[in-house]
Amino acid sequence: MSKVKTVFRCSSCGAAHAKWAGRCGTCSEWNTIAEELDGTRSVSLSMAPSEPAVPIDQVNSTDWAPVPTGIDELDRVLGGGFVPGSVTLLGGEPGIGKSTLLLQLLASMAAAGHRCLLVSGEESAQQIRLRGERLGALSPDLWLASETSLPNVLGHIDAVAPTVMVVDSIQTIADPALASGPGSVGQVRECTHALVRVAKERAITMLLIGHVTKEGSLAGPRVLEHVVDTVLSFEGDRHHALRLLRAVKHRFGATGELGLFEMVEQGLTGVADPGAMLLGDRRHGAPGSVVACAMEGQRPLLVEMQGLVSQSALAMPRRNAQGIDPNRLALLLAVLEQRAGLKVSFCDVFASAVGGIRVTEPAGDLAIALSLASAWGEVALPSDLVAIGEVGLAGEVRAVSHLARRLSEAARLGFNTAVVPASAPDAPGGIEVVRVATVADAIERFGLRSAAGSTKSTPRPRPERSSEGERGGWFAKSPRPVDGYDPSRDRAEHEEAGGFDEWR
Ligand code: TYD
Ligand code: MG
Repeated sequence: MSKVKTVFRCSSCGAAHAKWAGRCGTCSEWNTIAEELDGTRSVSLSMAPSEPAVPIDQVNSTDWAPVPTGIDELDRVLGGGFVPGSVTLLGGEPGIGKSTLLLQLLASMAAAGHRCLLVSGEESAQQIRLRGERLGALSPDLWLASETSLPNVLGHIDAVAPTVMVVDSIQTIADPALASGPGSVGQVRECTHALVRVAKERAITMLLIGHVTKEGSLAGPRVLEHVVDTVLSFEGDRHHALRLLRAVKHRFGATGELGLFEMVEQGLTGVADPGAMLLGDRRHGAPGSVVACAMEGQRPLLVEMQGLVSQSALAMPRRNAQGIDPNRLALLLAVLEQRAGLKVSFCDVFASAVGGIRVTEPAGDLAIALSLASAWGEVALPSDLVAIGEVGLAGEVRAVSHLARRLSEAARLGFNTAVVPASAPDAPGGIEVVRVATVADAIERFGLRSAAGSTKSTPRPRPERSSEGERGGWFAKSPRPVDGYDPSRDRAEHEEAGGFDEWR
């Protein structure tokens, strides 16, 4: 095999270097140099003849009709299905269910008569078969290859001639022509480019699984997201069965839609009616619980917001938010304190959206504020109540989009009362609306300002310090009554006796 030339190129200024460096000598940017192939290299497949330009109204659009996948929640996110020749990147944390989802997808496509190929660089064909047995994915039209080398992957495409193909994961595939290891920026970029080229030439529906970094973005160069047609993100809390699928980028449709899955023994099953699942374990009549209605794309989702407010013994009370933006929580607490007169500054505050869902929409503000007020006053709100509205800095409750849609969904799930902004239009039948102009109004209306809350307006008294060891300075606190620590022994002696680990 002839030696392929590679070059180290800066992604910021484009300068070429003979070897890798942490900083580009031309533009002085850090961490921008990655290895790439020098010039264009012919892939082992024949190039399709280039097509002449055509007038826009004569372009054949039927080739681009989406093909349904047979998995309803996936079709919902994609706006109908996958377009042949499109390349999709599926990102998500390890263990979230990416391999499971795509194996189920291939099984469903194979059953519909498509020729499918799964190339896995992470699992052996035996492992995949075992999983496939459990998922009911054994089909003669589903081909498996355990492979990590790019030329071999291209060879498999030649041999199997699939119409749908999955690469699990793009970070494990490497081109031996490049010196850098699998998963490096240069490798990921070159391999993706090669696969995209093949997908476009042969009209293969290509799906690439991508790892995400700790920060939650796709590992590898950002340019990946530009090269592919669709970027899907698979999210969810590992401790919950619920999984959320979103399109972050989609060249063939809208990106607002949300797909919901539940991870069960038989793999992922679509959740067509999330209301029942999300509100299933709700405890009725407990203070600190209010239901919000968030919109995900065209889909209203009822989510329970919970708050817990307790008098703090700390100089800096704790603020903890789960499934809610911590900054939003801080803002709502300031509004409750300044605009509604609830003294929460000496309290530890915990707020969460239940069920592994993240509520990022401002329309959830009123429900969060009311759950905190209810927890502060230890007064429960009616359990058939839903709160919808954005809260402004002046404590006013503002209008939100799609109110009628949200109210119909709440009514359908058996909610009888909705707290809504004063400016809200008339509600659809089946639910009574309570209009409030400010958060303070809502608090008065439901009698949340109580004696129990007032006791939380001062810091919890701290335990008296013993006068022992009053020698002044920082060391006044020692000797501390800690097991295993004897200040009369010297350090070496002490370490011999087990170290300082237990002295905390
Ligand atoms: P997997 O698809 O391997 O995740 P990823 O490819 O994103 O890393 O799925 C991992 C988890 O899913 C695994 O911990 C077990 C669970 N799981 C089920 O609960 N039921 C099933 O039927 C399958 C196949 C997996
Ligand atoms: Mg996997």
